[in-house]
Amino acid sequence: MQLQNDLILRAAKGEQVERVPVWLMRQAGRVLPEYRAVRAKTKNFIEFVKSPELAAEVTVQPVDILGVDAAIIFSDILVIPEAMGLPYQMIETKGPWFENTIQTKQDIEKLNVCDGSELKYVTDAISLTKKELNNRVPLIGFCGAPFTILAYMIEGSGSKTFSKAKKFLYTQPQLAHALLEKITASSINYLKAQVAAGANLIQIFDSWAGVLSPQQYSEFSLHYISAICDAITEVPKIVFAKDAHYALPDIAKTKCNVIGLDWTMDAEQAKNTIAGKKTLQGNADPCLLYADYETIKIETEKMLDKFGKQNYIANLGHGLYPDLEKEKVKHFVRVIKNYKY
Ligand code: CP3
Repeated sequence: MQLQNDLILRAAKGEQVERVPVWLMRQAGRVLPEYRAVRAKTKNFIEFVKSPELAAEVTVQPVDILGVDAAIIFSDILVIPEAMGLPYQMIETKGPWFENTIQTKQDIEKLNVCDGSELKYVTDAISLTKKELNNRVPLIGFCGAPFTILAYMIEGSGSKTFSKAKKFLYTQPQLAHALLEKITASSINYLKAQVAAGANLIQIFDSWAGVLSPQQYSEFSLHYISAICDAITEVPKIVFAKDAHYALPDIAKTKCNVIGLDWTMDAEQAKNTIAGKKTLQGNADPCLLYADYETIKIETEKMLDKFGKQNYIANLGHGLYPDLEKEKVKHFVRVIKNYKY
């Protein structure tokens, strides 16, 4: 089965493209009224994530409505802790919350290593999505980076500093590694199951990379991201490590194909550091989409000028905010697609 639009796959692999492909982090989300309508059919976020038909429906929405060049499966990075035996709740306006957290060696020993079958609701959603997409665009699968997952498992919720998680790294490094090993093994099995169900490329989200020092990042995060990249050989891999500027040269040494940049990173500097070794992705400030239409166009075209046509996937530097206007998000996508390359 030939994909009608394989721009993202070609860009990820460093092959020639006629124009820059675009997708948006959190494109399947509250920015779309159509998403909110489907979301309202379920009691809570977790029930929604566990409903393959509904998950498939909102995964396809941004392809139809925003015109993006890829779909990303609607799910969450926190399905992994749950599948390992640590359930969470998504509290409205507050975010994730875990009743039990990881504190001791026994807590870690009790956790399962997932084989992928625990997350059948995600692989079922992927199979359904593939049918609905009907080879129009590729489908992105994903997981959280092991460090970002550990951070939620120790902290029990979001945090500005993740100081409990960081305390664990400084005071219990061996336990931290034991936990990271289990999360990594689970994530590899989970990603392989996503690929078997039809995911055409995958993204690893290291959303809390920025709280670590370069030395800790290398030991507790990048080491495990690298292991995931080694294990997933079937499809291209994107690594998005938010705020880990200092780690760019080391991320480039992993077997990832694409490096996601947040909006604080300079395109030219990143290109020089990467020196053609990887494709880059990003990195418009999501808040740019609060600006007027003309400013959005000017700034987006500047971004395209800087990154150039090849070895590049246009995106934001982090996820869409729920209160952005849908029409401005569409405008951003349109500017990228209509740009004269
Ligand atoms: O469109 C997509 O990008 C696919 C779906 C997706 C979601 N979460 C849906 C979601 C993806 C890829 C994620 C990843 C995710 N989840 C990350 C990594 C990316 C990032 O943003 O840094 C993280 C850290 C999480 C954990 C998480 N999930 C938090 C902190 C929150 C609450 C914050 C918020 O935005 O409300 C969520 C909830 C969540 N995940 C929502 C969506 C659409 C909003 C909840 C809702 O619709 O009720």
